[in-house]
Amino acid sequence: MSQEPTHRLAGRILTPDAEAFRAAANLLQAGEVVAFPTETVYGLGADATNDRAVARIFETKGRPSFNPLIVHFETLEAAAREVEINPWAEALAKAFWPGPLTLVLPRKTDSRISLLCSAGLPTLAVRVPRHEIGQSLLRAAQRPLAAPSANASGRISPTSAIHVAASLGDRVPLILDGGDCEVGLESTVIDLSGPRPVILRPGGITRAQLEAVLGTVDEATADSDIKSPGMMTSHYAPSLPLRLGATSVNANEALLAFGPKPLEGAAVTLNLSTSGDLAEAAANLFGHLHHLDREKLAGIAVMPVPEQGLGIAINDRLARAAAPRN
Ligand code: TXA
Ligand code: MG
Repeated sequence: MSQEPTHRLAGRILTPDAEAFRAAANLLQAGEVVAFPTETVYGLGADATNDRAVARIFETKGRPSFNPLIVHFETLEAAAREVEINPWAEALAKAFWPGPLTLVLPRKTDSRISLLCSAGLPTLAVRVPRHEIGQSLLRAAQRPLAAPSANASGRISPTSAIHVAASLGDRVPLILDGGDCEVGLESTVIDLSGPRPVILRPGGITRAQLEAVLGTVDEATADSDIKSPGMMTSHYAPSLPLRLGATSVNANEALLAFGPKPLEGAAVTLNLSTSGDLAEAAANLFGHLHHLDREKLAGIAVMPVPEQGLGIAINDRLARAAAPRN
């Protein structure tokens, strides 16, 4: 493949060796998109300082343009060039970066990040991912990368290269394959731009972990949800209807089970965690949903998941996936 010009790499899934990173960096520097793994989910990356490259992300995902994007950096210092770092941000970055936490902070007036990433807000969402491939890609590209989850708008987030290819196909010129994502849930998004820290989206870092650093932290109300439009309820939708809190299952349903005693009688069953481990369940969530969604069945019944720790983020995603479509 080394002889092929980059524009002929359409739809390619590549093992991330030195050559693949070079191809990816070339595409990114030319204003193209590249899909890559992070510890949370796969991201659809583009040069965050290039308006047209960022617009390409919206185009590729078919995403409503009012939805702001997370910008990924190699280090806290690189992020600090673009946003105002306050003491909360410093403490959280020290505790959880690199890792599955996104901080919403005021943009610096001289920030080079495309205004499209902020979608009209005076703030910017920033994150330093810990996945080795994400880190290597940021280094190779030598610029911050705007990256939403690498799925078509309104579909569930991809946790493998195959998911990305299935959702976006030929619309992405290159997908770096890093296997399955370790966390499997998107990053926690916390707004630090107001008078108090507010969790806008539960995710890979739990509220308890945040409170251990910051003291009491608020969760977004219906009102602050508007500040994080990606939290719209229909955002995480499989094609099949979901039935939550199932205590029995029908023969024409798929079952998303949890724990050692999966319900009996489903057409097909996948278990988030037979041992009842919430981290394992989070890592399996989107993959299992993707898989069950392919079945020609009446719907997906979902067993109850405990509303604690990572279970809160899991139930949040499940509730969104189950919400009526408009
Ligand atoms: O784990 C993740 O966060 C993944 C990986 C690729 O990093 N990315 C991801 O991006 O989930 P996305 O675009 O699917 O979700 C970004 C969330 C949305 O809910 C969006 O509304 C919110 O972050 N967001 C982005 N910028 C914001 C801002 N300035 N203010 C408030 N919310 C913001
Ligand atoms: Mg998303």
